[in-house]
Amino acid sequence: MTLLDLWLSRSIPMCLLLQSLVLMALCFPSASMCPKGCSCLRDPHLHGLNVTCSHSSLKEIPSNLPGDTVLLRLDHNQIGAVPEKAFHELKRLRELNLSYNAVETLGEDAFSGIDGTLQVLDLSHNYITNVHKNAFTKLRARIIVHDNPWHCECALQQGTGGVAHNHEVASRVICGSSELFDLEGRPVMAVDTDLCILAKRTTDYAMLVTMFGWFAMVISYVVYYVRQNQEDARRHLEYLKSLPSKPKKPDEADDISTVV
Ligand SMILES: *[C@@H]1O[C@H](CO)[C@@H](O)[C@H](O)[C@H]1NC(C)=O
Ligand SMILES: *[C@@H]1O[C@H](CO)[C@@H](O)[C@H](O)[C@H]1NC(C)=O
Repeated sequence: MTLLDLWLSRSIPMCLLLQSLVLMALCFPSASMCPKGCSCLRDPHLHGLNVTCSHSSLKEIPSNLPGDTVLLRLDHNQIGAVPEKAFHELKRLRELNLSYNAVETLGEDAFSGIDGTLQVLDLSHNYITNVHKNAFTKLRARIIVHDNPWHCECALQQGTGGVAHNHEVASRVICGSSELFDLEGRPVMAVDTDLCILAKRTTDYAMLVTMFGWFAMVISYVVYYVRQNQEDARRHLEYLKSLPSKPKKPDEADDISTVV
């Protein structure tokens, strides 16, 4: 084996490694390419990208959104959920339009990472019934929430408590449904009843009823058991009495029952 052969045999794996490194480097910029179904316009006034993905039949939020997105339109799609930290990488996001989608609820960290920069958040015309109580607390954005079927209960009252200072949001959270039927159609902020105390009371009642049920069951079993035993004892006694034996004095029967 010549020295050249040795060098070649060593360098082929090196070449392959180098090639894959170059390929990886080429692939990386594609992470900031425009997602399928979206148009990305660089706007010098925005100092970033204007990304429009409206009317694109999207079922979820595109995962490869460019990091320098400033405006993001996702309206008129079928997005059903906003995963935790969905926009975490978009450090310059100012406007997010999620209107006309199928979002049902929002978790605590749905908008975390963009709370500092976001100025407008449009969530109107979705299927939102409730939000985590901290979903909006850190946001300073103008939040648009009308036309959602809010379910007015404890968690929602806590959730909107976080945006009580933002009167526009609060006044637009209209109860679509509630255990208290007379709340329907009213803004949740206008509900004076503390729905959390109400919920706690309901749970307490349920607990009490359940405990009472168990207690009643135990008592009736004990009564049944005692009755059954008495019956058995009596039958046994009668059997003993009926046995052919020498005539006995009345107090002997008592002795037998004591033994039994
Ligand atoms: C962003 O782009 C959309 C179309 O792609 C356009 O209608 C809209 O005016 C743009 N917004 C800004 C602020 O440039
Ligand atoms: C979000 O998009 C909808 C539908 O295009 C539009 O009507 C609405 O004005 C937009 N919201 C904001 C805050 O621009």
